[in-house]
Amino acid sequence: MATVPDRLKDLKTRQDKEKAAGGPQAIDKQHKSGKLTARERLDLLFDPGSFCELDMFVRHRCSDFDMPKTYIAGEGVVTGYGLVNGRQVCAYSQDFTARGGSLGEMHAKKIAKVMDLAMKLGVPCVGLNDSGGARIQEGIDALAGYGSIFYRNSCASGVIPQISAIMGPTAGGAVYSPAMTDWIFMVKQTSYMFITGPEVIKTVSGETIDFENLGGALVHNTKSGVAHFICDSDTHAIERIKELLSYLPSNNMEDPPIIDTGDNPARITPALDAIIPESARQSYDMREVIRSIVDNGTIMEPHSLYAENIIVCFARVNGRTVGIIANNPQMIAGSLDVNASDKATRFIRFCDAFNIPLLTIVDVPGYLPGTDQEWNGIIRHGAKLLWCYSEATVPKITMIVRKAYGGAYLAMCAKDLGADMVFAWPTAEIAVMGAEGAANIIHRKEISEAADPKAKLQEKIEEYRNLFYTPYIAAARGLVDEVIMPSDSRPKIINALEFLSTKRETRPPKKHGNIPM
Ligand code: HXC
Repeated sequence: MATVPDRLKDLKTRQDKEKAAGGPQAIDKQHKSGKLTARERLDLLFDPGSFCELDMFVRHRCSDFDMPKTYIAGEGVVTGYGLVNGRQVCAYSQDFTARGGSLGEMHAKKIAKVMDLAMKLGVPCVGLNDSGGARIQEGIDALAGYGSIFYRNSCASGVIPQISAIMGPTAGGAVYSPAMTDWIFMVKQTSYMFITGPEVIKTVSGETIDFENLGGALVHNTKSGVAHFICDSDTHAIERIKELLSYLPSNNMEDPPIIDTGDNPARITPALDAIIPESARQSYDMREVIRSIVDNGTIMEPHSLYAENIIVCFARVNGRTVGIIANNPQMIAGSLDVNASDKATRFIRFCDAFNIPLLTIVDVPGYLPGTDQEWNGIIRHGAKLLWCYSEATVPKITMIVRKAYGGAYLAMCAKDLGADMVFAWPTAEIAVMGAEGAANIIHRKEISEAADPKAKLQEKIEEYRNLFYTPYIAAARGLVDEVIMPSDSRPKIINALEFLSTKRETRPPKKHGNIPM
C-alpha cells in the first residue's frame, strides 16, 4: 500500500496526465491550425481561478478494435462550472487533441452530467464544440450518447440559455445538438458544420465543394441562418459569448441583470426628427435609429448577415435588457419574407422565454410578393410572426416610424397582437395597403374612364395618401397609444418599460401550442 504522501503525489501525477491532453504534438497541431485547446478556451471563458473541473478521470469502456489499450485524456472533453463575469455558468469543451474530440458513450455522459447540473442550478450552459463526431469504434453507444444530449437540449430549451461555439469540425448528426441550442457562434476558417461532407456529396450528386464553402462560418451566417454570430478567432468567439451572457438572465425564472450604463434616460435624440426622408421610396439607416435610442449606442446583433431585411438585436435602455426587432428599409424595402419571419420568430420566442421585453420598430411595406415566396411557404412562415408575437407575454412596445401596411402591420406586433404600448411618429403611415394598390382597386372604374387615366390615378393616390398615410386614424381607434416626436423616442420607451416592468399576463393552461413550422 502506498504511503499517504505518495497517494497525494499520485493525484497530482494523474491530474497532470489528463491536463496534458493529446500530448505536445497534437497540441502543436491544434495551435498551428489556428485553434486553442479545450482548456485554453475555458481559461478565457471563466473568471481567473473560478473554473472547477468535473469528471477528469472518466474513462471509455469500449472493448472493440484497439480501444482497450487506447487512453483518451479526459475522454476527449473537459466539463465543469465556474464564474463568467461573476455569474455562475456550466460548460463543456471538446478536446480535439484527444482522439479528435470524438464522442463516445462516456464522453457523452460527461456532457449530459454537466447539462443536468446547469438545469439543477438554473444557470446557462455553454458548449465549445471541436469534434470529429461519433467515435466510430463505439458505434451505437456513441449514437445513444448523442441522443441523450439532444434529449437534454430539448428539456433545457426555454429553461436555461444554451450557447454553442463551433470551433472545429462538426459533422453528421453531431450538428444537431448545437442546432437545438439557442445561439451558435462560428469561427472563420477553422469551423464547419454539415450533415454530409464533400466526399459523400461528390459520390451522390457529383457536386464538387470544399469544407469552407459547404459549411463554413460565412455560409452558415449568410446563406443557411444556422449560425448567429461569425467570429475572427477562438478568442473573439469567447469574448462575444461573454458579451451575450451579460444581457441574459441565468434562467427563465429570473429577470435579466440591470446594469448601470451611465447613459441619461432623459436624453433626447434630435437627429431622429430629420431621419425619415421626404420620399417614401428613399431609405435610411434603421440601425442609426436603434443606436440613438439605446444606452450608449451599444447593440449586440445576432444574424447580422442573414435575412438582412429585418434587424434583431439585444441592447439596454436605462440599464434594462431589451430585444429589438426592426424592419430594415435598406434591404428589399424592409418587407417581410420567409427568412425574415424565421429569424424574427426565433428571436422573439427566445426573449419571451427569458423575460426580455420586446421593442418592435416598424417600417414595413408588406410581405414580399412573388412565386418564390409563395412556393416557399410565406403563408406558413409569415404566420409564425403573428403567432409568436401573440404568444409572447413579456412587455411589448411597438414604435411605428413610417410604413405599416396590411398584414405586415399586424405581424410587427400591432396593438391587436397584444402590444402593451404603441407609439407612432407623425411620419407613420398605418394603412390597409399601399396607396397605389388601394387607389387602383377603389377607383378602377373612375380611372379607366378618365380622359387622362395616368393623371387620375396619380390624383387618387395622392388623395389616398393624404387621407390614410398618417398615424391619426389608428390613433382615433386607440390602436396607437401616443403619437410622439421622434426625438422623444428614448425617454418615452424608457418610461413605458419602467411601468411595464411589473406586467403579469397569464394564458389558459395547455401542454403547448402548435406553432406553424
Ligand atoms: C474516432 C476519430 C474520429 C471519429 C477523428 N478521429 N474523428 N476517431 N471517431 N469520428 C481521430 C483520428 O483517428 C485521429 O486519431 C484524431 O482523431 C485526429 O484526427 P485526424 O483525422 O488526424 O485530424 P484532421 O486531419 O484534422 O481531420 C479531422 C477530421 C477527420 C476531418 C474531423 O478526423 C475526419 O474526417 N473524421 C471523421 C469525421 C466523421 O465522418 N464523423 C462522422 C462520424 S458518424 P489519432 O489516434 O491519429 O490521434 C457521426 C454520426 C453522428 O458522427 C450521428 C449523431 C446522431
